[in-house]
Amino acid sequence: MSFWKETNMDTLITFNDVLLLPGLSSAEPKDININSRITLRFSLVLPFVSSPMDTVTEEEMAIELARQGGLGVLHRNCTKEEAVHMARKVKRAESFIISEVFTIRPDETVKNATELMNQYNVHGLPVLNDDENLIGIVTWRDIRFADDNLKVTDVMTKDVITATDEVSLDEAKTILHKHRIEKLPIVDSNGKLNGLITIKDILLKGKYPNAVRDNEGRLLCGAAISPFDLDRAKALDKYADILVMDVAHFHNENCFRGAREIMNNVSADVIVGNIGTYEAAIDTLSRLEDVAGLRVGIGSGSICSTSMVTRAGAPTLFATLQVAKASTELGSKVPICSDGGIKNSGDIAVALAAGASACMMGNIFAGCRESPGRLIALEGKYYKQYYGMGSIAARKARFSLDRYSQPSKDIAEGVEGFVPYRGTISDVITELAGGLKAALGYVGARDLDELKQKAKFGILTPAGMQEMQPHDIITPK
Ligand code: IMP
Repeated sequence: MSFWKETNMDTLITFNDVLLLPGLSSAEPKDININSRITLRFSLVLPFVSSPMDTVTEEEMAIELARQGGLGVLHRNCTKEEAVHMARKVKRAESFIISEVFTIRPDETVKNATELMNQYNVHGLPVLNDDENLIGIVTWRDIRFADDNLKVTDVMTKDVITATDEVSLDEAKTILHKHRIEKLPIVDSNGKLNGLITIKDILLKGKYPNAVRDNEGRLLCGAAISPFDLDRAKALDKYADILVMDVAHFHNENCFRGAREIMNNVSADVIVGNIGTYEAAIDTLSRLEDVAGLRVGIGSGSICSTSMVTRAGAPTLFATLQVAKASTELGSKVPICSDGGIKNSGDIAVALAAGASACMMGNIFAGCRESPGRLIALEGKYYKQYYGMGSIAARKARFSLDRYSQPSKDIAEGVEGFVPYRGTISDVITELAGGLKAALGYVGARDLDELKQKAKFGILTPAGMQEMQPHDIITPK
């Protein structure tokens, strides 16, 4: 046995082991900016990302999180078609100009138009002839009291007010107001339909000033992929801005090969991971030149039993420090997303100070109203279901089995349980952002770059860990 290994052992520090030391500060919370970057191309208003897990992120979570300034990563424990369907919903949720418009033919019946509007939750359909030219628009108001058997052509508005895609947001508002209409089809010089502007989307845009959007004004969307499923990656590429590799141990020749092939075939930014060591970061950054982000941390997840089953792991704080070191040495600007084990805004501050640009959270977001997990009442309190993607519950769906590379797929690397219900995303985000800004205030940093430069960690003793949290009080039930 080699004693060299023993004497050079790393200390695998975790969030609970450290505190940020307070520093000279002139920053007031209102001056503090926590904008960040999730990939080389995309920025976030808030450095919060939801985990791709089927009890955490489906379209509702992704839409709400993007509206608030963070990013949702849709899970992959479903068919390719279901994943694409979720991503489409995120993209259609609100945009200044909707490019994928639901339309109808003039000879369809009013009954069909009603069904389409109900199915797709829209209140109007542009009417196209066989040459795909716009010849009318039929809205909910036109068909509400109309006979089901009438044709669309009998009830539609024929003199449609339109605009071209040069129209600005303000011009569109003026046109909608002037003509007292709710929908403005966008056509090209030949009368072909190119998009649709709706009052609903314009109003929503004002309601969410922090929303993160693509350059067409649609909400930013992330989606999980496997390095071994090029088909899914290509299918999602049309809708998702960011594709997130979803394997427990990415530092693997097969994963590198798969990721390289995917990156050669998609235009979305690709985040790879999970990785947990200096060596993994060096290999990833030097061998995969198109990497747009790194997902970092192995074994810290609150539902993770990987290190119990295998005694392998790289806790998220340790992993973040390791990857940040490698990345600095290589002069890389690829953003790091710390993933797993984050319990509160203090842990977020520590991860960002250690070199991350964003934090991925499962447990915290699983407790929100917008997560897909089941809500249950237990002894007078509400809880939401939460389980690991390597748990038996998740494995039953069988679409993300390749996250783990065990010889037997019967070995679970995740557990199942419930987390306290936390309320809406909006409430949770407000709390996290407030706590994070306060942390920057203590360190004396005005933004996340300054946090990285100024932050100093201190290691807590076990006695300190006890003292540095509420103690010696009784909390009445
Ligand atoms: P949490 O926020 O501490 O609950 O950690 C969530 C993270 O745990 C996810 O983003 C994944 O990286 C990871 N994870 C998800 N499912 C499993 C699992 O079954 N085993 C191990 N890690 C998991």
